Amino acid sequence: MNRFQIKTEIYYGADSLAYLGHHAGATVLIVTDAFMATTTVMAQVVAAMPGATITVFDRVLPNPSIEVVTDGYRCYTEADPTVLIALGGGSPIDTAKAIHKIAIATGRKRAEFIAIPTTSGSGSEMTSYAVITNAETQTKMPMLSDDMYPDVAILDPEAVRTTPPRLTADTGMDALSHAVEAYVSANHTDFADAMAEKALHLLFEYLPVTYVDGNDIEARERVHNAACLAGMAFENAGLGIVHSLSHAIGGTFSAPHGRLNGLILPAVIEFNAGDLRARETPSPTALRYAQLGRALGATPVSVRAQVQGLVSLIRHLRRDLDMPERIADFGIPPHEFVAAIPGLAETALADPCTPVNPRPVTTADLEQVLRYLL
Ligand SMILES: NC(=O)c1ccc[n+]([C@@H]2O[C@H](COP(=O)([O-])OP(=O)(O)OC[C@H]3O[C@@H](n4cnc5c(N)ncnc54)[C@H](O)[C@@H]3O)[C@@H](O)[C@H]2O)c1
Ligand SMILES: [Fe+2]
Repeated sequence: MNRFQIKTEIYYGADSLAYLGHHAGATVLIVTDAFMATTTVMAQVVAAMPGATITVFDRVLPNPSIEVVTDGYRCYTEADPTVLIALGGGSPIDTAKAIHKIAIATGRKRAEFIAIPTTSGSGSEMTSYAVITNAETQTKMPMLSDDMYPDVAILDPEAVRTTPPRLTADTGMDALSHAVEAYVSANHTDFADAMAEKALHLLFEYLPVTYVDGNDIEARERVHNAACLAGMAFENAGLGIVHSLSHAIGGTFSAPHGRLNGLILPAVIEFNAGDLRARETPSPTALRYAQLGRALGATPVSVRAQVQGLVSLIRHLRRDLDMPERIADFGIPPHEFVAAIPGLAETALADPCTPVNPRPVTTADLEQVLRYLL
């Protein structure tokens, strides 16, 4: 028996923050970061709930740690909210999810949980995942729980208008890697495929537009929707070793998640597709990538050329977005990276995203992909 589910209700487009009017007079905790707390979107969120008693926890940092979650939960118990709002990128949303989970686990009355993403990337507003960093062991820990679904996601394109080009590119590449990984995952399904395919069409068309002109609000809206669709896809189909490797590297070297995914994705496609020489029968995974390449307009006849068409589409987009193509471009000294490879491969092997990678992997395989990133 299989299940496909979308639990979160979505309000989208211009004026979607008006949904918050239902919570006029409520007791609200807003989880955000120090920058987002000062923005116009924050002011609009507050203004949309007249008479509400609002507490703001704005101490979330990128790649949130266990300490930040503990701090936020303390604030939650003091505020005792009936509405929990996460405002920001993946980091505030994931922090709020972990707080929400702890509140439920400790028997508190369930608050309505609303996510307002201000980046178009993590898809966290649609998923039951949160990624929390253990600073002591330098690892990113993906957590999974049905208690972490936001009840409502508000996709207001105005909330992403201020996202600067570098962040737009990095987070967009995160969304793109969610869609590609979900499409080929061992748990792929027709339902998630539909979401992933649509997300990819939108991202290839509109992400470069938002990178060049952040004020193109129609393009912003389409990319915002795409990131959400990609979230629905991977929530149901899972991810793969792009994310396992990205979590491992990001835990050790603190590089932006989406930028790392952009580096790793083409290497993983080539690895997962396997041997594509003319005399070999293409693997089922290669056929999936080829199918995706065709869906995105790669017209060559052979499976090999279609897979390579997909890889080159991604490499071109990466170049258009001025994104790094090797590990040294991240400011990570290659000798330090080489020394870390065995540990990174071990960490990636244990990552919960690894079992659904379409090609089963060993530590040696992961080391091979990591060396390729040099
Ligand atoms: N839960 C999931 O399913 C999931 C999926 C992918 C990634 N993640 C996690 O999400 C985190 C990354 O999230 P992210 O990339 O969205 O960014 P983020 O939340 O870490 O924010 C990065 C920076 O961008 C700024 N920012 C956010 N919105 C802005 C806006 N509209 N204008 C200007 N600046 C803005 C923030 O203030 C912050 O300084 C990582 O921890 C990653 O592991 C989670
Ligand atoms: Fe991601």
